[in-house]
Amino acid sequence: MSEGLKIYEKAVTTERSAEKLARRHGYNNVVQLAESLPPGALVLDVGSGASLFSNAVAMLRPDAAFVNFDYSYNNPAILADVVKDSPANVEYVPGDVIKLGEIYDPESFDAVYSYWLLQHLSLDDPEPAMVAARAIFEATKPGGLISIGPIKNGHRLPSMRPQRTFRIIKDDSTDADAFAEAVVAATRLQGAELRLQRFSNEVATPFFGTTRYTKQQGRIPHVYDSENGDYVSPISRRGVSILGDLALVAAQHAWRTRSSAR
Ligand SMILES: C[S@@+](CC[C@H](N)C(=O)[O-])C[C@H]1O[C@@H](n2cnc3c(N)ncnc32)[C@H](O)[C@@H]1O
Repeated sequence: MSEGLKIYEKAVTTERSAEKLARRHGYNNVVQLAESLPPGALVLDVGSGASLFSNAVAMLRPDAAFVNFDYSYNNPAILADVVKDSPANVEYVPGDVIKLGEIYDPESFDAVYSYWLLQHLSLDDPEPAMVAARAIFEATKPGGLISIGPIKNGHRLPSMRPQRTFRIIKDDSTDADAFAEAVVAATRLQGAELRLQRFSNEVATPFFGTTRYTKQQGRIPHVYDSENGDYVSPISRRGVSILGDLALVAAQHAWRTRSSAR
């Protein structure tokens, strides 16, 4: 079903809150993260998706400029949704991180943040994530911060606990290759988390027909209703029917994968 789609066309877009991401990136809160940036900083969030991270930091730091960079912004509906209510010092750039160097000069950014991007790029093979990590390293200024997460937890089951990031200050002690090697080793999924993410990318994204198939509404994640182009509660009549159809597609996928593995 998803044959022909590139890995990043299947990567689900999410919307983690700014406070959650600030903590994952190693700060107590958004205010502390915002205060850590140098005056007039140029900041990149790679694979920013629908997260409000840059927005929240940008409002506290009008002197700084923020770039949200994500492949999913090629989808006009996703782009229109994320630019809504965004401060003027946040720019949204659609693109593939692997080609970051074609858009930005080397050593452009004072800080680069990225959360749940490399995991998508290393699902089957570490190489695309390695290329992305090198591009991120090159785009960062000497003395700049790079924070990429989450680092893997090594447990058999998906972690319910907050996860940290791989953080460095770019200096002469490392180069792009060594950085890429270390960050991909630290972030590449294993075990149950790897299988869950593959399922999401291979089955759920093609089923919903969008990389953004859940959306937080209040405390409950709603699911995308591709017939009506809207998000519905998973416990509504329509939501239950969508999840039932998805379960069927998942079972068919599991069966096909099982028979082709024989
Ligand atoms: C799981 S979401 C994370 C979003 C946000 N950082 C957060 O934590 O909520 C992963 C994002 O990476 C983006 N992505 C995947 N592959 C990409 C690529 N090659 N270049 C740029 N963005 C990519 C997807 O479109 C998606 O929005």
